[in-house]
Amino acid sequence: MIGVYDSGFGGLTVLRRLRERLPHHDFLYLGDSGRAPYGGRDVHTLLDFAEQCVERLFEEGCRLVVVACNTVSCVALRHLQRRYAGPGSERRILGITIPAAEAAVAVSEGHVGVLATTRTVSSGTFVTEIQKLAPRLRVTQQAAPLLAPLIEEGWESTEIARLTAERYLAPLREVDTLVLGCTHYPLMLPVLRQTFHGRLLDPAPFAAERLLDWLERHPGFTGPSQGRLSFLCSGDPASFREHGARFLGAPIDEVVHIAEEAGRLQRRTSMQVVTGQILR
Ligand code: DGL
Repeated sequence: MIGVYDSGFGGLTVLRRLRERLPHHDFLYLGDSGRAPYGGRDVHTLLDFAEQCVERLFEEGCRLVVVACNTVSCVALRHLQRRYAGPGSERRILGITIPAAEAAVAVSEGHVGVLATTRTVSSGTFVTEIQKLAPRLRVTQQAAPLLAPLIEEGWESTEIARLTAERYLAPLREVDTLVLGCTHYPLMLPVLRQTFHGRLLDPAPFAAERLLDWLERHPGFTGPSQGRLSFLCSGDPASFREHGARFLGAPIDEVVHIAEEAGRLQRRTSMQVVTGQILR
């Protein structure tokens, strides 16, 4: 079973591509939707959340975790790998930023743009990874903090979305290839296409290709599989089922609720919540 981790819904656009490429593998997706969005959070909080989430996935039996969130990949991947998947460890943690950088370098004619969350941009990881591969490539980043919440609201095809995208994309007019550096943005491709006339690059299919290649070189990390799909989320499971289906492009049936208890994410069984006022 392969663990796939994201702040909430965005990683489902990656999971969609992973399943297309690896239909016979089992996937366990963890969306930390109760604590999303991650994009504007400070680094220490992100490290803490990321540790809790990968620990949950390991406890569920995953030996391989794909961090399908650019914000976490950019800020916390090295930390997670050192802490949980160092030399000799039987666990592995992979990110999605390097496949994205490789894909951008392969197609760009000289100037790459990166549209991403505030924390991804401030980490500078995309610039570093792209320029490690192609030092002469120019990279311009743009933070777009309003886009992920707009998409979560289901407003990705509205006039508000178009105007917001136009504003964020204005400084990127000169780039030839624009990397969608946040896993929410593929849902906004139609609107982005109206506004940006260069090459729009959704890195998810490249991440899937890379994972396929990695699994061939590292057999034994996934165990016996039957193409099953299961979900954990820290937010409201009903809303995860409803909104998640748009991101995954398929219905989501069962979602297990997880919640933080003493610094660890634990499975929650159904709990009766008493609401209303007590009048004396
Ligand atoms: N999915 C996250 C990413 O790819 C962004 C959403 C968030 O801010 O939580 O960066």
